[in-house]
Amino acid sequence: MKVLVSYATTEGQTRRIARHVADRIADMGHMVELARIDDADDIDLSRFDRTILAASIHVGHYQRGISEFAAKYAAKLGEKPSLFLSVSLAAAGHDAEDWRGLDKILADFQDATGWTPGRVEQIAGAYLPSQYDVFTRFAMRRILGKKDPEADLDQDKDYTDWPGLDALVGEWLGA
Ligand SMILES: Cc1cc2nc3c(=O)[nH]c(=O)nc-3n(C[C@H](O)[C@H](O)[C@H](O)COP(=O)(O)O)c2cc1C
Repeated sequence: MKVLVSYATTEGQTRRIARHVADRIADMGHMVELARIDDADDIDLSRFDRTILAASIHVGHYQRGISEFAAKYAAKLGEKPSLFLSVSLAAAGHDAEDWRGLDKILADFQDATGWTPGRVEQIAGAYLPSQYDVFTRFAMRRILGKKDPEADLDQDKDYTDWPGLDALVGEWLGA
């Protein structure tokens, strides 16, 4: 099987997730191509048996590049199995309002692009103050302080469930 894994990232966590997923796919004996979404603009999707797209949420939206790609290739993506990995900090918790927000962001994305992924998974991302500018650091400290009172707000914190990601990829490829 040949799988395309393409991603959009702002602070780098979704790149790590996409790389991890691509490595897992290769470990399972499949062929995989990993590309940043901006470099996949002219890709021939017919070369792949399956596609995984990954993007992260910032202020209620995925990166523009992923929306443009999904809109451009909606019909082609719909022809074969596809998986969308939606990366956020909301997915790191169990707040019902946060999860309703994730549903709404996803629904808006699907409406705007015309692409309905075969499967969607909400993936917990990371808090990365080492990557933020001074204003973002200030805003994110307040958000994370409420969300995770135990967290050291000066330190990066990874909320991604890596073994869970492995299990997801294995299950999806087997399906
Ligand atoms: C400026 C900013 C805004 C964010 N907005 C949201 C948001 O609206 N909802 C959410 O759940 N997470 C939000 N996050 C958390 C990111 O989705 C999370 O840090 C993710 O891991 C970022 O992935 P990336 O490193 O691939 O860009 C935000 C993070 C930053 C820095």
